[in-house]
Amino acid sequence: MKAGIFILMAGLIFGACQNGTENDVSTKKDPTIMNNTGNRPDPHSFTQEARVHHLGLNLKVDFENKIIQGSAAYSVNSNGADKLYLDIDEIQIDSIWMDVAEGTEDLEFSLSVKEEFLGQALIIDLPKGVDKIYVAYQTTKGAKALQWLDAQQTAGKQFPFLFTQSQAILARTWIPIQDGPGFRFSYSAIVEVPKGMMALMSASNPTETYDNGLYHFEMKQPVPAYLMAMSVGKLEFRSLGERTGIYAEAELIDKAAYEFAETEKMLEAAEKIYGPYSWDRYDMIVLPPSFPFGGMENPRLTFVTPTILAGDRSLTALIAHELAHSWSGNLVTNATWNDFWLNEGFTVYFERRIMEEISDESYANMLALLGHQDLESEVHDLGAESEDTHLKLHLEGRNPDDGMTDIAYEKGYFMLRLIEEHVGREAFDSFLKAYFKDNSFKTMTTESFLSLLKSKLITDKTYEELRIDEWVYGAGIPDNCPKVVSDKFEVVEMALHNFAKSGDVKKIVSEEWTSHEWLHFIRHIHSDMTLDKMTILDKEFNFTNSGNAEIQAAWFEHTIEKGYVAADAAVEEFLIRVGRRKFLMPLYKSLLTVDPSGGKANAIYDKARANYHAVSQESLDDLLKK
Ligand code: BES
Ligand code: ZN
Repeated sequence: MKAGIFILMAGLIFGACQNGTENDVSTKKDPTIMNNTGNRPDPHSFTQEARVHHLGLNLKVDFENKIIQGSAAYSVNSNGADKLYLDIDEIQIDSIWMDVAEGTEDLEFSLSVKEEFLGQALIIDLPKGVDKIYVAYQTTKGAKALQWLDAQQTAGKQFPFLFTQSQAILARTWIPIQDGPGFRFSYSAIVEVPKGMMALMSASNPTETYDNGLYHFEMKQPVPAYLMAMSVGKLEFRSLGERTGIYAEAELIDKAAYEFAETEKMLEAAEKIYGPYSWDRYDMIVLPPSFPFGGMENPRLTFVTPTILAGDRSLTALIAHELAHSWSGNLVTNATWNDFWLNEGFTVYFERRIMEEISDESYANMLALLGHQDLESEVHDLGAESEDTHLKLHLEGRNPDDGMTDIAYEKGYFMLRLIEEHVGREAFDSFLKAYFKDNSFKTMTTESFLSLLKSKLITDKTYEELRIDEWVYGAGIPDNCPKVVSDKFEVVEMALHNFAKSGDVKKIVSEEWTSHEWLHFIRHIHSDMTLDKMTILDKEFNFTNSGNAEIQAAWFEHTIEKGYVAADAAVEEFLIRVGRRKFLMPLYKSLLTVDPSGGKANAIYDKARANYHAVSQESLDDLLKK
């Protein structure tokens, strides 16, 4: 306890002393310091009063050395402060200056103590009246946002590839920036890449490769740093509609264009529900399979995993999801990562509404039921009493990534669905439409959302009846969670039951099944199913070599746990090729279940790790105790 107080005081002294380079005293892991966020408006950013409102980047992408180098120009509102605080993590600062009549003048700066997860504050002197400053910098090997792929790891095998992943707090590893969801700025960029390659950003984008390798980008609407994104590769563009298109390597472009052909229709459906699309164009890029997520809602350019290219358009709800973020998240943004459910819960709700619109209610309900299964298993994994099952999170002093669980997505979804079911769809829609309009380009806290709910949609009495506080501030799944029924899934359960009893594969009449029905089927295979029956299923339906990654991943959990060795080679190939964390975690967990010593898991991980993005590496290092 005493030691805690001492370190806390030391932290305050260092915090107050802004000549930080000599302060490289580690404060790691001491919770008293972690919770001492001082006057930071965001617990995961060092940002203070002075704010950046426009960023101008001038960057060169150097594949040989695997660094980005260049400069950033910041247009600043000082708000009376004499220092500008930016977030950096593992970035090398070369010089900082401002314009003066005779040319330029260097500015004093210092770095704060490095904090676990957060990196450091870059603290820059801001003389009175100065509203523009420049920073020359380069990224380092430690830049967690960046994944540099060799040509071998791409489909074309001729050119290397680079992509970024900034959410939640990794933007600071490739740009010195105020890296909290509450700090918005517009940006422009000039980016130089090797000849023959195309650069894309979360901004206005080229549709062809320029001979000089120089690209210019504009993002006129203010965005938070977690939406800063860049991708560089040998890429092609294909238009999908008036406002929609797709970028991919040539080898994948036809497949991608087929898969995402409904995007324009989704955009129209979305606008019909929640009002005009604010970002001009909606394009997507298919990344190499090591991309750690399914999708990322970078404005104007959603990043997607190639694992949704199933060949039958069956996994495109993910596109509806990322598109929906153009409203929930990108337009109305969670104020801090503690309010993450406002981004993801609303987006899942909206995603299912879009899918209902372009397909039908039974389709949306299948998605909702699969989501409910995810929710139950997340609550089970976290523990029904865990604070991490609250919608409103407490991530101070922690890695925000720890809070990015299915709770935000699915508990958030089910609470919104509960409200919708209570007030009726028409009332709920007009509330949401106004919510997006009134709060465009603003942030939202959980508390302000709840007070809007009470002032604009439901009475205090209804609020109590629906037990909203219990949903938001309580653990587990409240027992008034909406019940979803799906006739389609009932048929699936019956078919599985009949097969499990008889071993007769003809009992499974599945011609009309979508991949969601298959997913439901596979998830419900009981752990006592015999290897013989698994063999029969695999022979008939070829799950092991399915072209659908969702089906493969769900099936592999069983094959690993049951010791169905016929799939071992495919499991290994999948784990080496695919870097999507949502698939990796359960599969490595299954490997640990059958071999708690970690021998099996590590035998594969040793071969696969180099192909994973830092985000996936970090979670797996943790799981496998590296
Ligand atoms: N914004 C998220 C991805 C994300 C969340 C990245 C937190 C970093 C931190 C994105 O919109 C998302 O939710 N992707 C999902 C797909 C979706 C259909 C649930 C994914 O990647 O699986
Ligand atoms: Zn999302």
